[in-house]
Amino acid sequence: MTRRKSPQQLRSHRWLGVSDLRAFGHRSRLRQFGYDAQDWAGKPVIAIVNTWSDINSCHAHLRARAEDVKRGVLQAGGFPLELPAMSLAEPFVKPTTMLYRNFLAMETEELLRSHPIDGAVLLGGCDKTTPALIMGAISIGIPALFVPAGPMLRGNWRGNILGSGSDAWKYWDDKRAGLIDEDEWSEIENGIARSFGTCMTMGTAATMMAIAEAMGLTLPGASSIPAADANHPRMCAAAGRRIVDMVWEDLTPDRILTPASIDNAIKVHMAMGGSTNAMIHVVAMARRAGIALALARFDEISRTVPVIANVRPSGAFLMEDFFYAGGLRALMAQMRDMLSLDCLTVNGRTLGENIAGAAVHLPDVIRPLANAVSTEPACAIFTGNLSPRGCVMKPSAADPKFLSHRGPALVFEDYNHMAREIDRDDLDVTPDHVLVLKNSGPQGGPGMPEWGMLPIPRRLVRAGVRDMLRISDARMSGTSYGACILHVAPESFVGGPLALVATGDAIEVDVAARRLHLHVGEEELAARRAAWTPPPPRYERGYGAMFAAHIGQADEGCDFDFLKAGAPVPEPEIH
Ligand code: FES
Repeated sequence: MTRRKSPQQLRSHRWLGVSDLRAFGHRSRLRQFGYDAQDWAGKPVIAIVNTWSDINSCHAHLRARAEDVKRGVLQAGGFPLELPAMSLAEPFVKPTTMLYRNFLAMETEELLRSHPIDGAVLLGGCDKTTPALIMGAISIGIPALFVPAGPMLRGNWRGNILGSGSDAWKYWDDKRAGLIDEDEWSEIENGIARSFGTCMTMGTAATMMAIAEAMGLTLPGASSIPAADANHPRMCAAAGRRIVDMVWEDLTPDRILTPASIDNAIKVHMAMGGSTNAMIHVVAMARRAGIALALARFDEISRTVPVIANVRPSGAFLMEDFFYAGGLRALMAQMRDMLSLDCLTVNGRTLGENIAGAAVHLPDVIRPLANAVSTEPACAIFTGNLSPRGCVMKPSAADPKFLSHRGPALVFEDYNHMAREIDRDDLDVTPDHVLVLKNSGPQGGPGMPEWGMLPIPRRLVRAGVRDMLRISDARMSGTSYGACILHVAPESFVGGPLALVATGDAIEVDVAARRLHLHVGEEELAARRAAWTPPPPRYERGYGAMFAAHIGQADEGCDFDFLKAGAPVPEPEIH
């Protein structure tokens, strides 16, 4: 360990180490807990930012895991303090957790800034919690280590393996088509989420936890450990031990996050066949670190990195299998020639050192590069007259026949309009139609909800149709699949071209050419624009009003404009 800081240089020293009336107050209040000077004097104070709550089943184990982290902190000579933060339970938070990602990022930053904290262990994993915690930690800039909650165990129904989200959509369509009954549906409800931990498909949670590891922000291998595996609490204790040394070494996020480490994360994202949501979060994290990142970079990388993680929804297996196959270290070892191996990570070693010796144990779960899961890339970025600032598709999870398609639009003005219409038996729709959903973006949703996998109209589901081309300014769950074009920017709510699409307009997509085109003439579009009126604001007061005033578009990572990197924020005065 290279000791670079003295105890007097610790941030907490200003609260606890000086001899004045304020420090007397701080120390006396620590003594009120039953602590003594031996607990804190000269020791790094470590915050354990915990997104546990009684409503977040993905994080149900994090209360216990915080104790494991504390054990490690104490072993290494630190002083652990658990600080609860908003838990952002993906299934329960409405209208969408994405409305609150920046809220948690701000909470994390300000929790750490306002307290006598020298380093932080961040406990999260359910979708938005990973980017939010990391964004906040980047902005405060103190040493921070991310502890992924880990995926839950595989689901089970009558011997069939069930995956979070993906199998819910699949069996819901079967139920709508009359192929399974209420009792069977109820059994699936009992079997699809069998343990604590995050979704165990390659949804946003698994993608973002892997990205955090690829960026160098977790201990090696941490992101793949199932939540219920005894390796998980051991990893937590190791994280507690390590963060203490990180404080002494002053190993801050800006030393770890570089253009090369961000590229590593995007490459891993593509190899995992990861969630489209991750693009928004990676852009936001990079921008917090002062690294400009254009959507085009995802497209460039996706053309060179094949999907090799055979995990649903792009593949066949689940994250538990991925762990048994060797986990993320094995996947990164498989693609080591594509990665920048000299990037520094939280354990003080390089990525290359961390993956040395890692091997694939189940070659059908983590495939060789030459035997990819899909010949299609994990993402494709389009621009064009419908989406001048970009939109995204996941070709590897789509029916190949929609990778080149032209069809008439069927437009829904908002989610409620779609919900009213989609199951009508007389809906005028064919499998060739392109379903278009407006007003579902960052401002319009609000919060860009995961509505992008629009349901297939019921009359087509009954006829056996399971995929259609769909376009929206919404996101979709990483556990979703289908020919869904998402994140259209600028969004329709602020007057983006999507707002001008009418039912019957021809829309053409050609994934190979990265072409998405609305076949409506310029003159007609200008006339429609002149007739377009902006919808009323979604919120008049509170956090929602602040969100609407400051939220960026998808290509900007949907961060608030006032949270951008570079603007100085003073340390708190201690009076
Ligand atoms: Fe928490 Fe999917 S609901 S990770």
